[in-house]
Amino acid sequence: MSIDSSTTLYCLIGNPIDKSLSPLIHNEMFRIFGKNSIYLAFNIEENKLRDVIDGFKAINVKGFNVTIPFKKTIIRYLDGLSPEAEILGAVNTVKNQDGKLIGYNTDGEGFYKTLRNNDIDVKDKNILLLGAGGAAYGIGITLSTKGIKSIYIANRTREKAVNLEKEIKKINPNISTSIGDLSLREINKKDIDIIINATSIGMYPLENLSPIELNGFDKKTIVYDIVYKPRETKLIKEANLRGFKAINGLSMLLEQAILSQKVWFNLDEKFLEKAKKVEGLLSVYVE
Ligand code: ATR
Repeated sequence: MSIDSSTTLYCLIGNPIDKSLSPLIHNEMFRIFGKNSIYLAFNIEENKLRDVIDGFKAINVKGFNVTIPFKKTIIRYLDGLSPEAEILGAVNTVKNQDGKLIGYNTDGEGFYKTLRNNDIDVKDKNILLLGAGGAAYGIGITLSTKGIKSIYIANRTREKAVNLEKEIKKINPNISTSIGDLSLREINKKDIDIIINATSIGMYPLENLSPIELNGFDKKTIVYDIVYKPRETKLIKEANLRGFKAINGLSMLLEQAILSQKVWFNLDEKFLEKAKKVEGLLSVYVE
């Protein structure tokens, strides 16, 4: 990489960011796409957010990603939102369009893209969504626009599941929805087509835990764990042992990053396919 006076800057802001793989992914994509750009991560304090955004505008930062805990709070500092970001009420990607900062959200679509990459059609499917935090919101709301038949939201804190259920109903009242906790007591496991873990259970420091047991589910059930560190969570290990199709979170991480690059550079799908090479690099970093 050679940096010169025309190199453009892209960033990640969040807190903490020291474990983030985004700099690795985006710098590698810049290399693949032949962009004269660099990507840096900044650990930001909430009370400095306005200064940071003003600074980004002043030095004409072309785009940035936003991660925990600023995906919602960033919105008040932006000049506009994409329809997805508006619905989700959360932003993970910002583009500087002629001095105006526009917020996008590529989390839900990134997740959906990985389903298509795996030839999984969610139409008329019964979904079990574990979790009701930021990631679960993105996934649940995106799925509710893709023709699913039903969704059961299982979360430790019931109130958050109730809120997500309400949002899904608003988008598509025809979807059958229900909620409960991670004990899955009221669920008919045999009916579930796809299980999605969007809790942080299984991720460091909870890597010795699994959000649920897989006994009682049908063999055709697909198990998708959005956790990518470790690559093989306890849930994924159990799914593999039982012969279920299992997908880990690395591909979602990569797809949402590819979609950020699409937002920043208006790249077409075919061109973006080249970015898949980054997956090989990532596997080296994620054990
Ligand atoms: P993210 O943006 O990654 O989704 P989040 O919004 O903090 O992060 O959501 C984390 C999810 O993991 C939530 O569903 C959380 O459950 P609560 O809503 O009850 O907090 C779930 N979670 C995290 N740690 C958990 C634990 N030890 N047991 C059960 N659920 C847990």
